[in-house]
Amino acid sequence: MTRHLLEITDLTAHEIHRLLDDADRIRLAPQNVGTPLAGRLLGLVFEKPSLRTRASFESAAVRLGGASLFFSGGEVNLGVRESYEDFARVFSQYVDAMVLRVFSHETVAAVARAATVPVINGLSDLAHPCQALADLLTIRQEFGSLAGKTVAFIGDGNNVARSLAFACALVGAKLILARPAGYGFAPGVPARQTTDARAAVRTADVIYSDVWTSMGQEAERVERLRVFAPYQVNSDLLAAAPPHALVMHCLPAHRGEEITSDVLDGPRCVAVRQAGNRMYAQAALLQWLLVK
Ligand code: CP
Ligand code: NVA
Repeated sequence: MTRHLLEITDLTAHEIHRLLDDADRIRLAPQNVGTPLAGRLLGLVFEKPSLRTRASFESAAVRLGGASLFFSGGEVNLGVRESYEDFARVFSQYVDAMVLRVFSHETVAAVARAATVPVINGLSDLAHPCQALADLLTIRQEFGSLAGKTVAFIGDGNNVARSLAFACALVGAKLILARPAGYGFAPGVPARQTTDARAAVRTADVIYSDVWTSMGQEAERVERLRVFAPYQVNSDLLAAAPPHALVMHCLPAHRGEEITSDVLDGPRCVAVRQAGNRMYAQAALLQWLLVK
């Protein structure tokens, strides 16, 4: 059966731990990686901009001995130039796995239903499972374990927050979302929610920030700037957290909006290492999906 990664819940806890172990092995001993993806081709179709997701996947593919092929969304025009199913059946013959970054989660789901190679969600409006994998890898590296850790996500109950909430639940950690009323999770996401950012960080091991306006929500930007203003991660909020608490951000950041520069550039912030971990987590993922 072809495995896909559309949501982090497509993986079991056991599979996640195995991927994190593999990712650490690749990071710590790159000289032992070899060329497990020799002769394999990764296809990427991105409807939205990206630095980290595109570059880390292409880099991982090449570092494992494979190659990659990138299309911007406008070129392929998923679901418009041809049906999702026709695209999926045809592209599956050219590549060994595909990464899609889409506006609507249904696009990546529809492609996965018809594809005969693994389909990886490189971010949809609903989920960002590859980010969640790298987030877990980062937390485990920083603290040595995942079970019992608490992540305070400050801001929008968006794709990144939602995937991280499920990821935390899978590994025995927990996520508390501090957000304005009306911007929380739909029912079914395993997370406590509050409107009080200071209360949320009080017991946190990790304080997590992401943009207030996600790609595709640009028309709401002015309203969101106003509503989310009390949810900025700044030195004042950090002072309410335990001294050991670290700051994470999936990047790109809007400095001075959801997070201040002094915090993002400060000694407690691991966002750059976190971004680096995207490559190791996804190298492990590609190897697991493609090399049986
Ligand atoms: N964090 C993340 O997915 O970054 P990009 O949008 O640059 O890929
Ligand atoms: N929530 C953001 C994450 C970007 C990596 C977005 O969807 O734009």
